[in-house]
Amino acid sequence: MVEALLATARAARNRAYAPYSRFPVGAAMLTAEGAVITGANIENASSGMTVCAERLAVMTAVHAGFRSFQKIALVADCNPPASPCGACLQVLWELAGSIEVIMGNLENKVLIKPLQELYPYPFGASLWPENPVNDHYFNLAENWRVPALFHPVGYLSNGFDDPGHIPGQYKELFSQVVIAPEYEEGLYRIEEEERIHLIAYLHKVTGYTLKERRSGRGNEVYGVFACRAPLRPNAIAQTTVELIDRNKNVLTVKGADLINGTPILDLKTIMPVK
Ligand code: THU
Repeated sequence: MVEALLATARAARNRAYAPYSRFPVGAAMLTAEGAVITGANIENASSGMTVCAERLAVMTAVHAGFRSFQKIALVADCNPPASPCGACLQVLWELAGSIEVIMGNLENKVLIKPLQELYPYPFGASLWPENPVNDHYFNLAENWRVPALFHPVGYLSNGFDDPGHIPGQYKELFSQVVIAPEYEEGLYRIEEEERIHLIAYLHKVTGYTLKERRSGRGNEVYGVFACRAPLRPNAIAQTTVELIDRNKNVLTVKGADLINGTPILDLKTIMPVK
């Protein structure tokens, strides 16, 4: 799990906004439930406004509903690996407690310390235990409006790189579904299936229309929820493929209408029709 978390932090680093320091940092938090939530440093011309990778990760995770954490990994291009700044240690302490802090660099040097060792005397809120913020201040019935956060479990690999040009004969073409090694056990007995559903995130898609002419439906006008168009409010794809072969964490499938590198969110079996 340490290597997987570091790999996710390295990927999160690609989404840093660090034009001033040119020192991108990525962070990945592992929640108690096993979800992985990322952050990267987001800088500002007004320097003091910069948010570090670790704080973005833990605050994003808390806002996504997670309250309990196991580990955080961070990756930057320096040697020795960077440790969280004082502000991040304070924030991590309050929101995550004494988690394991995994510090890595691009040369695969790794340092692991409990947060408590990096920050032995944190400042706590025990001075005001009567915190008035309580759930009844919130309208929980509206919670469904809050965006949901997913962490892909793998990706699709094939020769189609252009989202505009999935070959017409895609139903005959093969792809690999590469599941991250830490999720491999979840494939147990998948060989028993002839066909499976892939749930994917269409990562190259931007924007949508609710109602327009749909090329896939005879160029007639249909609502987005009445067709399979990729430009949707949530760019989620569901596609049914033939399962050809499994080699450890790699499935060979036939018929995926998804481009190379598409993140896979889930695999599901097909509901038996009685
Ligand atoms: N930074 C982090 O994101 N995490 C750390 O642990 C150390 C520093 C960022 C803040 C700023 O954008 C840049 O690195 C240089 O300080």
